[in-house]
Amino acid sequence: MLMVSRARSTQVVTGLGLAAMLLLSGCGSDKPKPAAPTTTSHPATSKTTAPGDKKPAAVTVDVDNMKFAPADATVKVGDTVTWKFSDSVPHNVQGIGDRAMGINSPIFDKGEWSYTFTAPGNYRYLCSLHPQMRGSITVE
Ligand code: CU
Repeated sequence: MLMVSRARSTQVVTGLGLAAMLLLSGCGSDKPKPAAPTTTSHPATSKTTAPGDKKPAAVTVDVDNMKFAPADATVKVGDTVTWKFSDSVPHNVQGIGDRAMGINSPIFDKGEWSYTFTAPGNYRYLCSLHPQMRGSITVE
C-alpha cells in the first residue's frame, strides 16, 4: 500500500515537473509574433468523399414489406450490393453457409448496408429476425 501510494505521488510530481518545464520553455521563446488571424487554417475542404461514395451500388435491394426486392439479383465480381431498409419493422441481412459468411449486417430499422462481392458464386441470405425473408445474389 505504502509503496503504491509513494509511486503514484512520484508520478504526479514528475508530471507536474514536465508540465512546468513545458510551460517555461514555451514562455522562454518570446519572439515578437503578432497574432495573425490569417494564418488560421481553413476547415478542410477536400473531405467531401464519404466511404461508399466512390463506387455506386450495382444493385440496390429494397428491404420493405417483409421481403427483399428483388429477391434474386445478379452482379459482377467486384460489384457492391446495397440493401436499403425502409420497412416498419427491423431487419438484417445474413448470409447462409460458409461462402456467404461475410454477409452479416447489423439490424436496421431504417438505413442502408452495402457488401462488395469479390468472388463469383451464388450467395444466399436471409433476415435472421424473419427467416422466411430470403434472397440471393449471383456473382458472375
Ligand atoms: Cu426481417
